[in-house]
Amino acid sequence: MKNNAQLKITNSPFLLDNDDIYRRWRDKKLTNYPTKIDELVIEVKDSKNISNKEYKALLNIAQKTNMTIYFGNTGTDPSPEIPLAVANRFGLGQINKNWLANGNGLTSLTVANKGVRKNYIPYTNRPINWHTDGYYNALFEQIRALNLHVVQKAAEGGSNQIMDHEIAYILLREKDPSYIYALMDHNVMMIPANIQENVVIRPERSGPVFSVGPEGNLHMRYTARTKNIGWSENPLVVEAIECLHKILNDTESKFVFKGLFEPGMGLISNNVLHDRSSFSDNKEKKRHYYRARYFDRLANTSYQI
Ligand SMILES: [Fe+2]
Repeated sequence: MKNNAQLKITNSPFLLDNDDIYRRWRDKKLTNYPTKIDELVIEVKDSKNISNKEYKALLNIAQKTNMTIYFGNTGTDPSPEIPLAVANRFGLGQINKNWLANGNGLTSLTVANKGVRKNYIPYTNRPINWHTDGYYNALFEQIRALNLHVVQKAAEGGSNQIMDHEIAYILLREKDPSYIYALMDHNVMMIPANIQENVVIRPERSGPVFSVGPEGNLHMRYTARTKNIGWSENPLVVEAIECLHKILNDTESKFVFKGLFEPGMGLISNNVLHDRSSFSDNKEKKRHYYRARYFDRLANTSYQI
């Protein structure tokens, strides 16, 4: 007899064989899907103590879109307790303490002028192309949830675009189901080793773009960066990636949400696709985001049929 978790995987709409289940799930998913970023935002009175009513409203959105945005009145308060309390409310417990994170596992994304950080794009004011977080992690340490909390916005620029990875999956599968087949291959995306001063920070890693994880949920590894990425040369993969590129860069798309986050706002997500525009700081407004990556998904956001 199969247990619930096994059933969730076998009946996953993300497996190509499950065409009927996929269609049913897709139709439900696209019904009343938000069309504006404002529809993802819920104001909260106390971000460290989100009320049941506020939580239900946020969860309702996250169940639909894999993401939601809280808007608290904490302004530029840099307390790490804010994003940690929000994550706790959403059942996130397995934080990824990556090597540049603070002791509590949060990463402060600000422009770094010195040290090792300045060599990495997140710590510069440069744009970051579409990606999901931790695509270079080992397959057993994938990032399933990504939260951002805004302490300060830049003097100019620094907006984000976000897109539900399940929507990217639907648009690709509708165009050609064999694109999904191609992108589920384990050797589709290779990340070369990260070696700094003869020390291997990360070995070479290969893996799929789309995979079906625990409980049958969809996971996506992707970056639009062309540097330091080895894509499979399989013509079907090349075509699928071109199609994904078009989906993400479609300026008319109703599925790409764009916004400039204000201090006190935060994104809670199942590691959806996102980018960042370039920005400039001044003395008063130096962009500061807290980033938290988790190995678990937001609680109670599994696919629904
Ligand atoms: Fe990111």
